[in-house]
Amino acid sequence: MERTPGRVLVIVPTYNERENLPLITRRLREALPDVHLLVADDNSPDGTGRIADELAERDDHVHVMHRTSKQGLGAAYIAGFRWGLAEGYDVLVEMDADGSHQPEELHKLLDLVADGADLAIGSRWVPGGKTVNWPVSREFLSRGANTYVRLVLGIPVRDATAGFRAYRAATLEKIELDGVESQGYCFQVDLTLRTVRQGLRVKEAPITFVERTVGSSKMSRKIILEAFWRVALWGIAGLGERFRPRR
Ligand code: GDD
Ligand code: MN
Repeated sequence: MERTPGRVLVIVPTYNERENLPLITRRLREALPDVHLLVADDNSPDGTGRIADELAERDDHVHVMHRTSKQGLGAAYIAGFRWGLAEGYDVLVEMDADGSHQPEELHKLLDLVADGADLAIGSRWVPGGKTVNWPVSREFLSRGANTYVRLVLGIPVRDATAGFRAYRAATLEKIELDGVESQGYCFQVDLTLRTVRQGLRVKEAPITFVERTVGSSKMSRKIILEAFWRVALWGIAGLGERFRPRR
C-alpha cells in the first residue's frame, strides 16, 4: 500500500534556468505524477519565466509565479509557501531547478513526512548521503557552514543548509514566516532553527546531490557573509533565552 502525506506542492525557485527547467519538470512529473509544481521565477533575463508559462499551458499540474525582480531564494520560497498554503496543499517541498536535487529521490522525504516528520531534509552529510561532481571548495564550504551552525546554534541537524526538503503545511503555519528576514541560502538554516525551536520533528534522509551541468550557481560572497552574521546573531539571541532567569 502506498503511503501518502496528502496533496504535495513542489516549489522550484528559478533565476536563469532556461535549459534546466523543462528537464527538471519532466523528471518530477514522471517520478511522481500526482505532485504539483510551482515555479517561482524572479523575472529571469534569460526568459525562464516564458518557458515556465509554456510548460504550465500544457500541464494542469504546473503553476507559475512571476516575481518582479531578483530578491533572493528566501523571498521566492516565502511567496511560494504562501500561495501553496492558500491553495490548501498538505506538504510543501523545496527543490532546486538545476538537477542537484533528484526528483527520483523525493519519495524519501515524503515517506518521512507520512511517518510523522514535521520537516524532512534531504541530507548530504548523514551516512549514505553524498555529493557528485561538487568542487572540493564547495564541499569544504558546506561542511564548514554546517559545523559552524551546529556549534553556534546547537541544533541536531547534519545538513541545515540543504535546499531539498519537505514541510508539513502545519509546520509553516507555526514558524511565523512573517518574521523571516533571511534573503540568501541562510534562509534554509533560519527555517530549520525555527522548526527546531517550535519543538517540531526534523528528520533527515540521505540523498545524492548532483552538481549542475548546465547554467551557473548563484552562490556569492554576499550570501556567505549574510549566513555568517545572521547565524552569529541567532546564536547570541539563543544565549539570552538560555540564561534568562526562570519565574
Ligand atoms: N527566484 C529565485 N531568486 N531563485 C533563485 C535565486 C533568487 O534570487 N537565487 C537562486 N535561485 C534558484 C536557482 O535558480 C536554483 O534553482 C536554486 O535557487 C539553487 O540555486 P543555485 O545557485 O544552484 O545554488 P547552489 O547549487 O549554489 O546551492 C545549493 O546548495 C546550497 C548550500 O547547501 C542549494 O541547494 C542551496 O539551497 C543550498 O543552501
Ligand atoms: Mn545548484
